[in-house]
Amino acid sequence: METILERRGDGIALVRINRPEARNALNPAVREQLAAHFHDLAAGEEVRCAVIAGSDKVFAAGADIKAMAEASPSEMMRRPDVWVAIRAFPKPLIAAVNGWALGGGCELALHADIIVAGESARFGQPEIKVGIMPGAGGTQRLTRAIGKYKAMKILLTGEPVTAREAEALGFVTEVVPDAEVLDRALALAKSIAALPPVAARKIKEVVLHGADMPLEAALLLERQAFQLMFDTADQKEGMAAFIEKRAPQFRGR
Ligand code: CAA
Repeated sequence: METILERRGDGIALVRINRPEARNALNPAVREQLAAHFHDLAAGEEVRCAVIAGSDKVFAAGADIKAMAEASPSEMMRRPDVWVAIRAFPKPLIAAVNGWALGGGCELALHADIIVAGESARFGQPEIKVGIMPGAGGTQRLTRAIGKYKAMKILLTGEPVTAREAEALGFVTEVVPDAEVLDRALALAKSIAALPPVAARKIKEVVLHGADMPLEAALLLERQAFQLMFDTADQKEGMAAFIEKRAPQFRGR
């Protein structure tokens, strides 16, 4: 299989891209499998937080250039859209990035809610160098994350930035030694999965949807989601545990 889905207990799942011979390029098989994994993980309550990773040397080198070099626009339109499944994934998603995250690989990382990168990771949108442009959110997510003038340089030159530069620009959450990336991402996932999943889901929903709304409407969305929390058993438990000075037992209800 070009991808591996591991349910690791403690409410977390790890999705890995496993195509080292092609630097984890996102060919149709990888895309179909990723879409299926994210559909599966979205359903059910067992998994509360997911981690997406590549291998030790490369996260993903982007769309498979060999599989699209001769494609027509209508062929490109008919290809399975992996991005819809990841975009709609309602649970927290952490990208664990070692090595190259280029083109669609960088855009895949940008779909995550938190990005943990190794010191030697490199992020870039080199599509312009092969005669195209980003097509999986790079022009929009990167610009929203770091602003027009920094995004334009990355998009128009195609030159990669280091993990430290990406952290300073604001689209990498944490930089850690290369050997610790996956463990750190899994530890973060475990701590998020131990918290109330309805609250986690609503935080993600309101942050992502609110970012594209006028402030007043976004604040209203937040207020209503906040009020809805008081309908959950986990709110009652969390506050009771605080008052009784004990550890809460969250049940996802
Ligand atoms: N598509 C297809 N094959 C790829 C690939 C890609 N994106 N990236 C690497 N490969 C293949 C190479 O062709 C090579 O195959 P062969 O052994 O058959 O020759 C193999 O992987 C190893 O590649 P390199 O020898 O180049 O490995 P490297 O370690 O020296 O360099 C790299 C790694 C910097 C990632 C380099 O491979 C590279 O620059 N890849 C292309 C990156 C790129 O341009 N990505 C953007 C693609 S377009 C896109 O992503 C659009 C979109 O999603 C909407």
